Amino acid sequence: MTKPQIWVAAFLILFIILFMIGRLTKEDEMPVKDFSGMSDSPMGQQSSEELTGEKLVMSFGCTNCHGADLAGTNMAPTLKGLKEFWSSRDNLINYLRNPNSFMDSDRFKVYREKYPNGIMPSYGNKDVKDLGKIADYLLTQ
Ligand code: HEC
Repeated sequence: MTKPQIWVAAFLILFIILFMIGRLTKEDEMPVKDFSGMSDSPMGQQSSEELTGEKLVMSFGCTNCHGADLAGTNMAPTLKGLKEFWSSRDNLINYLRNPNSFMDSDRFKVYREKYPNGIMPSYGNKDVKDLGKIADYLLTQ
């Protein structure tokens, strides 16, 4: 072989080696791709349509502050016996959508002193149908 032929041959071999390395690393990446595909499994797509008021209260995190049994914690009052004060479903939905607008009533002045660290979040961004289910559920507690 002449010198140029040796160079050409050497480059060819180099290319073949690089090509094979490329193939091998591609195969290594395959399982990683499969794992990322798993994140869009249908598990997380449960629509709130099928959830009852009781389940919504848990999934919206109400129980984090009001307690798993809704009997109240040191962060928030009990959600039992609400019917006496709120009487109607619409009142309660309005409250959940905008708790601040009820702040001036005596009931909430007392709460603010009793639960200085707790703030009732407003749920105005939630589906009114879901809030209705929650209100229905709470009024039976
Ligand atoms: C971060 C804590 C927190 C979360 C989460 C929370 N609340 Fe509250 N909630 C409070 C506090 C504190 C009060 C007392 C009023 C106040 O201080 O604003 C309150 C008051 C209430 C009241 C009025 C109680 C009464 O005696 O009239 C209702 C009803 C209520 N919450 C329902 C809910 C529902 C339903 C959810 C979930 C969708 C929820 N809360 C989530 C903290 C919370």
